[in-house]
Amino acid sequence: MTTYRLDPGSRVAGELTVPGDKSISHRALMFGGIAEGDTEITGFLAGEDCLSTLRALQAMGVSIERPEEQHVLVHGVGPDGLRPSADPLDMGNAGTAIRLFMGLLAPQRFDSTLIGDDSLMRRPMERVAGPLRSMGANIKTLDGRPPVEIGASSGMRAIDYALPVASAQVKSAILLAGLQAFGRTHVTEPAPSRDHTERMLGAFGVEVLRDGPRIAIEGGQTLRGTQVKVPGDFSSAAFFIVAGCLAAENGLLLRNIGVNPTRTGLIELLQQMGADIRVQLHGGRGAADDPNGEPIADIEVHKSRLRGIKVPEGLVPLSIDEFPVFFVAAACAEGETLVRGALELRVKESDRLAAMAQGLTTLGVENQLLADGLWIRGANGFGGGTIDSHGDHRIAMAFAIASLKARAPIEILDVANVATSFPSFVATARAAGLHIETT
Ligand code: S3P
Repeated sequence: MTTYRLDPGSRVAGELTVPGDKSISHRALMFGGIAEGDTEITGFLAGEDCLSTLRALQAMGVSIERPEEQHVLVHGVGPDGLRPSADPLDMGNAGTAIRLFMGLLAPQRFDSTLIGDDSLMRRPMERVAGPLRSMGANIKTLDGRPPVEIGASSGMRAIDYALPVASAQVKSAILLAGLQAFGRTHVTEPAPSRDHTERMLGAFGVEVLRDGPRIAIEGGQTLRGTQVKVPGDFSSAAFFIVAGCLAAENGLLLRNIGVNPTRTGLIELLQQMGADIRVQLHGGRGAADDPNGEPIADIEVHKSRLRGIKVPEGLVPLSIDEFPVFFVAAACAEGETLVRGALELRVKESDRLAAMAQGLTTLGVENQLLADGLWIRGANGFGGGTIDSHGDHRIAMAFAIASLKARAPIEILDVANVATSFPSFVATARAAGLHIETT
């Protein structure tokens, strides 16, 4: 089992970049695969999750070249060009891959089976299977979980679906099925969730209409191959944004980070806590850095005195993947922080509310686990101890950042899955100034 060991206390400084955005890399591969013509992806995240998507497309007959690690050429097979895979498609740890493939494969005229690692095999899939069935899909789950068995389709019809929870994965799966269904599919969101699918479908020449929370897509449109320039992943940058708030006496600069407003709730939360974070946009829509409608920025962070807050529920979906590291910031703030309305955190790669509560308790931080959230009393730093990451990449990286404010070494167990989203995390953390060793 791979473990991190972190020596306590340090400063962070300098300039960093982080690997490409995971959500955008998955979508660029999938959309490129079913497009007509070629798609060139630069800044691709060569993490295990996106490689699962890449291998699944190859298993279905898509030819993909990788002249460099982060440079991918996808030779699209067109809307009817995918072929059945001889083996089950293994999605590894990737929730985005399995759920988006459900939407992509449900309309196909062949059978598919989707599986994953132990964590993925425990995650809920009916949230996608249910609406797809009402479009005519033939899908089975095992008590709501993978394996997901998709039977050959004899045609799908459009639906008008109101999402019960804000989920970009569910929204995207329905839009991808709607693209191959008869009629116009509508999806209504209860609150905004990340909109990379809508933006990128536009870049592939597909018309996606939005009217407030209601999104519409007409079936039968064909994607045309394009160029996708993937920005740095805001969710990876998040660990260093918090590191900067805790320990960048002279500032820390993060370059080329995707700042799609449906992803950057963490900046608003930290600013409400008093953080000094400056966002310098590279240019607006249509600028050279923004070929796919995804805004990019440099983010500068300075060590700040943080105060606890009550997190506005509307910001929860906009910072959903950042809560592990947000809780580390809250533990270093003056006063109390309360998060409610975050039930979704219980069904991520691990139960992130329980995993964070357990780890914070180990490090001596007073907290209370709630059904749909967490209450934390900020303290002046962390003790040391051994943390179980529960195999969850974001739990592992969040507690590595906690070491900046620790009084004794922190050991973090079961960290191999950091490679799913941030394969260069240790090198980047060292470059920033953390004292981190892998064993
Ligand atoms: C993602 C959507 C979110 C997020 C996940 C990536 C995506 O999941 O947590 O890491 O790329 O669409 P939900 O849709 O389940 O909220």
